[in-house]
Amino acid sequence: MKTIIEPFRIKSVEPLRMTTRGEREELLKAADYNLFSLKSDDVLIDLLTDSGTSAMSTRQWAGVMRGDESYAGSPSFFRFEAAVRELMPFKHIIPTHQGRAAEKILFTICGGEGMVIPNNTHFDTTRANVEATSAEAVNLIKPEGLDPQLEAPFKGDMDLGALEARLKTQSNRIPVVMITVTNNSGGGQPVSMANIRGAKEVCKKFNKPLFLDACRFAENAWFIKQREAGYADKSIKEIVREMFSYADGMTMSAKKDALVNMGGWLALNDDTWAMEARNLLILTEGFPTYGGLSGRDLEAIAVGLEEVIEEDYLEYRITSTAYLGDALTQMGVPIVRPTGGHAIYIDARAMLPHIPVANYPGQALAVELYLAGGIRGCEIGTVMFGRQADGSEVPADMDLVRLAIPRRVYTQSHVDYVIECFAELNAGKDRIKGCRIAWEPPALRHFTAKFAMVA
Ligand code: F0G
Repeated sequence: MKTIIEPFRIKSVEPLRMTTRGEREELLKAADYNLFSLKSDDVLIDLLTDSGTSAMSTRQWAGVMRGDESYAGSPSFFRFEAAVRELMPFKHIIPTHQGRAAEKILFTICGGEGMVIPNNTHFDTTRANVEATSAEAVNLIKPEGLDPQLEAPFKGDMDLGALEARLKTQSNRIPVVMITVTNNSGGGQPVSMANIRGAKEVCKKFNKPLFLDACRFAENAWFIKQREAGYADKSIKEIVREMFSYADGMTMSAKKDALVNMGGWLALNDDTWAMEARNLLILTEGFPTYGGLSGRDLEAIAVGLEEVIEEDYLEYRITSTAYLGDALTQMGVPIVRPTGGHAIYIDARAMLPHIPVANYPGQALAVELYLAGGIRGCEIGTVMFGRQADGSEVPADMDLVRLAIPRRVYTQSHVDYVIECFAELNAGKDRIKGCRIAWEPPALRHFTAKFAMVA
């Protein structure tokens, strides 16, 4: 059957507001052509991020009512801890308000001047938290992960040869090795079990801990089941447990694969690091049995972790993403292939070759997509990465637009609508104009910059 069956029915709805193209032109102008400045009420299909945008289930909402808000030793914490440990059997499980808080604590413990943290590809907040301690964040992605058109099953894999070479020369400067599953900054591409196992073997030789940045662990496990020899008959839970059996710790944003709107955790086996982490946690997040979350949030995570590994859910999830990506590919829209788990990444530079990189083809496409259909995506390119610390401007490696798909939120007809908008936009793409930056802040300019369209 071709129809994607959303494995849920809808009990509570959030109305969406339709706007006309004329209204959207005015709204965009008032937002200085920066999609972050739009009011979300003025967006029809919001694909800005898959983070914190999941729909919760009836069981999760029931958990919210059950939440116990005791300061210390709440039963909600113990339910959360047990649910995490069922999948990720670490000794210490420390809740945080979101993923970056876990990163901040981890790198405060092990980062610092002169330290080097390897990862397949650091996500922005991971890199920022490494660099905030004056340590260096290094990406060691396998070369095939840098080729957007190449069809390969595990383009998120780490280059283990490069990792070993680094450890040989810089062992005393590397406190931890990280792998991000799936590799968000590299197109949402999965990491194979063989690669995680291999990374563990390299780490063992040098006596280094391996941590997973595990935001999208369930999507990664689904790809392993589909694509890696020997895993087709294993359950998702078995695959997840094996993934984490090679790790000594993890950071997690529960806003992704725990199906909640806020939350995260740091988990690890080392007693000394855990003690230091709890001390830091108390400074900024809270007592170790709630860590910046309400008891009700911990309950929702506990249930979300059971639901996210259900195969009907994961099939719907990954099939929906592929459905959008494959339709765009058939239309001739260049995207990062193969489609990843949580998002489609459109290669705006290849799609709009008439727009010079200096006029931000990614931003131009994101603006046009909103004008065409009220769809909000996110530029990941020269606007985001082009401004250098010394003030100069350098083109990013790629000019992409990410369409991230919230979990359990949109149906196949929403996705069909996005595809229809793209068909229209693609037919008239030669008329799309570039833009320039009229004003920008000193750092992280993409969030607040003001743009003007080139006439
Ligand atoms: N690691 C990865 C791989 C992520 O994708 C994110 C967040 C984080 C860490 C940080 O987690 O937001 O809970 O603090 N990614 C979001 C995104 C923001 O849109 O991709 P957080």
